[in-house]
Amino acid sequence: MNGRRHAPIDMPADEFRAAGHELVDRIADLLSGMRDRRVTAGLSVSGVRELIDADAVMPQHGMPVQEILNDAADKLIENSLYNGHPKFLGYVTASPAPIGMLADLLAAAVNSNVGMFALGPVATEIESQTIRWIAELLRFPASSSGVLVSGGNQANFVGFYTALRAVFPRDGDRDLSRATVYASSETHTWIEKAIAMFGLPADALRSIRVDDDQRLLMSDLEQKLAADIAAGRKPVAIVGSAGTVSTGAVDPLQAMADLCAQHGVWLHIDGAYGGFAAMLDDASEDLRGLARADSVAIDPHKWLYAPLEAGCALIRDIDKHRAAYSYHPPYYHFGEAATNYVDFGPQNSRGFRALKVWMALRQVGRSGYQQMIGDDIALAHALYDRLKADDRFEVRTVNLSITTFRYVPQELRATVGQPEAEAMLNALNKGIQSALETSGELFVSNAVIKGTYVLRTCVVNFRTSMDDIEAIPNMVARTGAAVFEKQKALTSQ
Ligand SMILES: Cc1ncc(COP(=O)(O)O)c(C=O)c1O
Repeated sequence: MNGRRHAPIDMPADEFRAAGHELVDRIADLLSGMRDRRVTAGLSVSGVRELIDADAVMPQHGMPVQEILNDAADKLIENSLYNGHPKFLGYVTASPAPIGMLADLLAAAVNSNVGMFALGPVATEIESQTIRWIAELLRFPASSSGVLVSGGNQANFVGFYTALRAVFPRDGDRDLSRATVYASSETHTWIEKAIAMFGLPADALRSIRVDDDQRLLMSDLEQKLAADIAAGRKPVAIVGSAGTVSTGAVDPLQAMADLCAQHGVWLHIDGAYGGFAAMLDDASEDLRGLARADSVAIDPHKWLYAPLEAGCALIRDIDKHRAAYSYHPPYYHFGEAATNYVDFGPQNSRGFRALKVWMALRQVGRSGYQQMIGDDIALAHALYDRLKADDRFEVRTVNLSITTFRYVPQELRATVGQPEAEAMLNALNKGIQSALETSGELFVSNAVIKGTYVLRTCVVNFRTSMDDIEAIPNMVARTGAAVFEKQKALTSQ
């Protein structure tokens, strides 16, 4: 190796510029033509494997960059599921903001390691400002601590682990056999993972019953907490949801905060989906209860429309946050005042995921987000109203931007509630969900409410408009009628 090195992975600036411009042009065309595409190409697993030639052997030698980029863009653009499509209303996956796409490119170019201030000085301060702005949006104290992580599960883990270490400090009582945790039966599955990952006994989780609106039942919580305290158990946290994943229900967060204050128990709130709705001027009192939590999980890759991945944990007490995560090996030499995010979360090397969130916050400001989140909620309610007025449907719930409903064909209307009809309706609505997904016309997911399988739309999509919402009843009913005929034909064979 003499003189200047030529590494095969490097790219001359001109080649980079030309390839980059071409790629950006293709992405711009994708964005402008999104509405005319199917939501998903609906390829089977074997279809996808064939597409990418999954069994090909590892290449011995490389190939030209332009060829690779064209091939990857063709495959991805023609065959992906587009959660940026106006008719993607499944799960809680947002339409990605275009500015976030550009931010990710810039972040990769600078490639800051945001574990240590020294390795990402500007990036570290941008992350800190982003976290403070998120706290302000939720009316959480600006003095609180936080860290960006990959998503809602991780943000909940960070809050949960900080609570655990506050109750069972690293250098104190570590016998977790008496630990207990309280969360409604509607809580996202991260809670079960947290109990297992952090070594709590399986019976530590007290599953609290919900009321008819899927909200945690205070009387059940009070009773279980009192019984545990009397029995000498050690509560780690009470967990509330600011928007459950199934139906968007917001737990009675004010009453839960009162109970936590009364007993000195940590309040963790999972606001991964609904937390950002607390910024609305007309946010409910319970949503405003987020501001009283000890820790909050909140997802910029949901209602701030950041491209995946971006979650955020907010912790009220910075000392407790640091105490959970800070370990200093001899090879770390940190400056006095600098923030080193390695001290605030499980990751060591960390990417610059704050940039896409920060840039979007600057692009639209509080007012822009209030408008978009408000519009998403209004669209969900408009859908609910239209379905309610249409006798082909039964509506179940509307909370925040989640609407649940089911299609009921005329033939079954008189027998709704009877076991045989209910079994048929469950199978029918499951079939509708799959048929819609395959057709690529509309993407919805589902919820199961008290044993009833319902279709579920969740609008965290700044591209969805009233036209899209108005098209849904006929689209679902048409698909429903076809699926019902097919299912009847199958059962009569
Ligand atoms: C309430 C709630 N909590 C946690 C999560 C998990 O978030 P993520 O998929 O970003 O890990 C979700 C995901 O939809 C959610 O809705």
